[in-house]
Amino acid sequence: MDNTERIPVHVSIIMDGNGRWAKARGKERVAGHMEGVGSVRAVVEAACETGVKYLSLYAFSEENWGRPAAEVDTLMSLMMKSIREECATFLKNDIRFVVLGNRARLSDKLNAAIDGMMDQTAHCKRLTVIVFLSYSGKWDILQAAAKASAELGPEAMATLSEEDFSKYLVTAGIPDPDLLIRTSGEQRISNYLLWQCAYTEFLFTDVLWPDFRKEEFKAALAEYARRDRRYGKVK
Ligand code: FPP
Repeated sequence: MDNTERIPVHVSIIMDGNGRWAKARGKERVAGHMEGVGSVRAVVEAACETGVKYLSLYAFSEENWGRPAAEVDTLMSLMMKSIREECATFLKNDIRFVVLGNRARLSDKLNAAIDGMMDQTAHCKRLTVIVFLSYSGKWDILQAAAKASAELGPEAMATLSEEDFSKYLVTAGIPDPDLLIRTSGEQRISNYLLWQCAYTEFLFTDVLWPDFRKEEFKAALAEYARRDRRYGKVK
């Protein structure tokens, strides 16, 4: 296999450990999230440099709505600020921006900003950055089942293939992740891409998200290149 085949097409990241990063420095949790935005920028750059085509980031889960209101507000404001500040850079670097999740729970103002950046970057081809916001894997499967059954009816539903069902998930058209990274030492999937990670390689690192930068991203890709993917078969 040559080197280019070993670059994952889709890398997904559960960004974890912002709170612990801040606490270790005697700072408020918010400081960890702010530093975490710097890591987002770094991995977007690293994905461009390495030729990864899809980079997805779990920024806010459906369960995260249960955090204190002030922290939720901060995370939503950071998202808004990032959109305002990064749109031009995305366009300049040919990067498409996509937000997936239960958008009905986001504010009108944030939804408008997201739609604006998605529309402006829709033609970009070099890299697609997907931010999962108000997302959970079980929610995705349920909304797909509801949409599919309303559209297809019970008969077609009963014989629906896995491939055709996938078209109703919010990730329709996006290849499943080849590599899923979770930072901060936690080793669980936390209701993330449950259907889509059926054959994904998992990589857990103790590095906290604010410390996960280009070097760590490239080391993760090197580890991926050493993995032997068999998809349940014998090689
Ligand atoms: C997990 O750390 C991190 C989050 C819930 C939010 C991640 C968000 C950002 C990095 C900023 C905004 C994102 C974008 C795409 C601009 P935690 O708070 O669960 O940390 P802990 O487990 O140490 O408490």
